[in-house]
Formats: sequence, structure tokens, C-alpha cells
Amino acid sequence: MHQPSTGNRILSGVQPTGNLHLGNYLGAIRNWVKLQDNYECLYMLADLHAITVPQEPDALRRATRETAAAYIACGVNPEKSAIFPQSAVAAHAELAWILSCHTPLGWLNRMTQFKEKAGKHREEAVLGLYSYPVLMAADVIVYKATHVPVGEDQKQHLELCRDIAGAFNRAYKTEFFPLPEPLILGEATRVMSLRDGTRKMSKSDESDYSRINLTDDADAIAKKFKKATSDSFPTIGENLENRPEALNLLTIYASLKGISRQAALAECGGMNFSVFKQALTDVAVAHLAPITAKMRELLASPDYLDQVLAKGVAKAQGIAGQTMREVKNLVGFLQ
Ligand code: TYM
Repeated sequence: MHQPSTGNRILSGVQPTGNLHLGNYLGAIRNWVKLQDNYECLYMLADLHAITVPQEPDALRRATRETAAAYIACGVNPEKSAIFPQSAVAAHAELAWILSCHTPLGWLNRMTQFKEKAGKHREEAVLGLYSYPVLMAADVIVYKATHVPVGEDQKQHLELCRDIAGAFNRAYKTEFFPLPEPLILGEATRVMSLRDGTRKMSKSDESDYSRINLTDDADAIAKKFKKATSDSFPTIGENLENRPEALNLLTIYASLKGISRQAALAECGGMNFSVFKQALTDVAVAHLAPITAKMRELLASPDYLDQVLAKGVAKAQGIAGQTMREVKNLVGFLQ
């Protein structure tokens, strides 16, 4: 595990836009849990980011609570880490505006996620979808976070975050913002779709069979792995460079078991696809069943969740408020 030096702070978050899936868990949240022992951690529910695509208000509220419950069920400890909705801390949006005045359009034009999400409908895409990475930079540096644990797909946004923090520092001749480091940890930094091993597992994929949700029960998990795209090689372990689906399932297996891909290969390489899928299902069910049960329990105690979030908001507001006072002073705003 990554060893920090002292005085380091972590900020990360997930968009509450529906069920969390195995990619969110293995690529991000599971690492957050481990990092809690060595860092001061802030884990937000990225609801401001969620509305860059249309959301139904009640569904957003529900998903925000469910995502908070998922963080805790996965092992984020509210006694150690702040859990809070991003929108409850106004400083995120406030700093995003100031940073947007230091972000050249050329930098944003390079962002591949915008290109993918806007697709052919660029002219109709909303400004928030385009300026999303500026808000993401604000999320991180408003806490002067030094490290940001994420999956591989967020790497480009975090490189931009460093560039924006650097641009602010240069503009005001200061070292005010630390340049945050991405932490992309573990075997499963990019979990792929179960239907297409060349596309990442995603909440927005139309097919629910493309992903394992943290709320899936044992039957659903078994069905989804059974239906996951296979090929006709005799064993799971051969020629993996050219078999993205087999490699993806093996990676998921290794990651769930907390072993290296090499060790998973030694254990399962000789199995055929269907035998391996059964082994994978057993591991996934054993791992996810307690998380799902805990989530259900938490969602049945809304008062407890509210208390956790209120405490998280208070802590986040304290840190972010201090940063904003200093930022406004640097920029030259009367206070
Ligand atoms: P989001 O909600 O898309 O994903 C949340 C986290 O899960 C990781 N992830 C994956 N990891 C491995 N394989 C996958 N298939 C997979 N899919 C998602 C993501 O890398 C991420 O770590 N913009 C962010 C949320 C955000 C944020 C921030 C994160 C807003 N502000 C500041 C860090 C710091 C997002 O949309 O993540």
C-alpha cells in the first residue's frame, strides 16, 4: 500500500447517479477505505457533477443517500472520514468560478471525457458538462488535498487539476495550492463492461448486464457473470493480451480476492470459462453480500445517515471556508 508522509489530505467522490458498481468499488472506494488509516480523508457525494446531465430531483436525493450508505457499507468510517454532499459546501462552486478565470479553453478542449459524453451533439451540450473538470479541480484544491484516489478514467482530469492549481499559483505569485497527486491503486484500476471488454464498466451503460451493482443479490451476480461475454479458448489463462473479456474477469477475481493478477492466473489459469465464472461468482457473492446487507440496514436508519452527513458538511465547510477567505484575499476581493 502507498505510504504517505505526514500532513496529507485526501479528497475524492462518486457521482450519485444510480447504483454504484464493481468499477467504482474496486477502482476507488475500496482504496479509500484503506487510506483512512494514514490520511485525513474527505469523501463527498458529487451531486453538483451529477446535474451536468439531466436528473430527476427525487431520484437524485435517493441516489445521494444510497451512495452515502454505500460508502459506509464498503468500510468508509464516518468517525474517521468526512462524508458529505458536495452541494452543501458552497465553496466548491465559488472556487470553480475563480479557477475558470485561470483555465484556458485549450486545456478543456483536450478532455476526452467531454468529447465522449457530448459526442456528435457538441453544440447542444451544456456548459456544465464542458467546465466539469474545473469544478473537479475546485473540489480537490478547496481542501488543499495532496492526494486523490480514483480509477484510471479520472487521470486526465487530475492532470488538469494540477495545471489549474499551478496556473492560480503563478497568477498570484504564491505556492498557495499544493499540486495534488492521483492515487490509482490496485489491480482493477479500469474495470471493463461484462458485455464488451474494450469498454469500461459504467453506470450509464444501457444494459444492466454490463455491470455488477453493489446492490445485486447472489442470483443477479450469478446470472450476470454467466451471461458475460466469453470466447472459445480452452482455458481462461492463455493468450490474455488478445482476450479483453477474459483478462477483465481475471482482474476482477484477483482484485476481489486481494491477490495479484499473476497469483490469480496461477490459481485459475487452467480452468475453462464456465468453471472460472462459477469461481468468480462465489468470490463476488461472498465479498458483496455483507456490503449489500449493510447498505440496506443503513438506508433503514435515515436519522443516522443525516447525522453522518451533517457532521461531514460541518468539517468540510470549516476547511473550505478558510481556503476561500485566503483565496479571496489573494485575488483582491473585499471581505
Ligand atoms: P464517477 O462517479 O464516474 O466514478 C467514481 C469513481 O469510480 C472510478 N471508476 C472506475 N474505476 C475502475 N473501473 C471503472 N470501470 C470505473 N468507473 C468509475 C472513477 O475513476 C472514480 O474514482 N468526476 C468524478 C467524481 C469527482 C471527483 C472529484 C473524483 C468529482 N469531483 C474530485 C475525485 C476528486 C466521477 O465522475 O467519478
